[in-house]
Amino acid sequence: MLETHRLLLRRWRDSDREPFAALNSDPRVMRFFPAALSRAESDHAVDRIETHFENQGFGLFAAELRESGAFIGFIGLWTPDFEAHFTPCVEIGWRLAAAYWNQGLATEGAKAVLDHAFDSLRLAEVVSFTTVANTPSRCVMEKIGMTRAPEDDFDHPKLPEGHPLRAHVLYRVKKP
Ligand SMILES: CC(C)(COP(=O)(O)OP(=O)(O)OC[C@H]1O[C@@H](n2cnc3c(N)ncnc32)[C@H](O)[C@@H]1OP(=O)(O)O)[C@@H](O)C(=O)NCCC(=O)NCCS
Repeated sequence: MLETHRLLLRRWRDSDREPFAALNSDPRVMRFFPAALSRAESDHAVDRIETHFENQGFGLFAAELRESGAFIGFIGLWTPDFEAHFTPCVEIGWRLAAAYWNQGLATEGAKAVLDHAFDSLRLAEVVSFTTVANTPSRCVMEKIGMTRAPEDDFDHPKLPEGHPLRAHVLYRVKKP
C-alpha cells in the first residue's frame, strides 16, 4: 500500500468492482481504447490485476481518495503480455473516472508508484506507452520525468493494421 497527500494506493476490494465497471463503461474514459468494457469484462480485469499482484508481487493499485474514501480508478505497474522491441518490461499505467481528471491525481499517484518501483522493487527501468493522440496520458508521463525517443515508437501488436489507435509512443525512465 502507498500513501500520497491525497491518495491511498492499495490492493483491490470487492466494493471497487462496481465503480470500476462504471468508469470502464464510460466512453470518455475508454476513448483511447478499442472498446468500453462490459461488467463481466471489467470484473475479469480486476481478477487479472489481483492475479498479477499474487504472481509478481506488484501491480495496478486501486486508487482511493483519502478525504472521502472514494474509489477513483487505478495507478500502478503491469507486465505487458505481448512481444515488442521493448519487452519484457514493466509498465506504469493509470485510468481514472472522468470526474477526477485534471486535478493532478494521476501524476501524484504515479510519482509514488515510480519511487516504489525503483526503491522497493529495485527495477532498473519503467516504461509507459499509449496511442499517439492520448495527450493527457502523455502529459502524465512527461510530468513524472519519462522521456520519449521517436525510434521507440511502435504499432501495438494487439491492434489490426489500419486501426486508428494502432500507432503508439513509448516513454522510458531509468532508476535514478
Ligand atoms: C490519463 C489520465 C489518467 C490522467 O489523469 P489526471 O489525473 O487527469 O492527470 P493529471 O491531472 O495528473 O494530468 C493531466 C494533464 O493532461 C492535460 N490535459 C488534459 N486534457 C488535455 C487535452 N485535451 N489536451 C491537452 N492536454 C490535456 C492536463 O492539462 C494535465 O496537464 P498539466 O498538469 O500540465 O496541465 C486520465 O485522463 C484518464 O483516466 N484517461 C482515460 C484512461 C487512459 O487513457 N489511461 C491511459 C492509458 S495509456
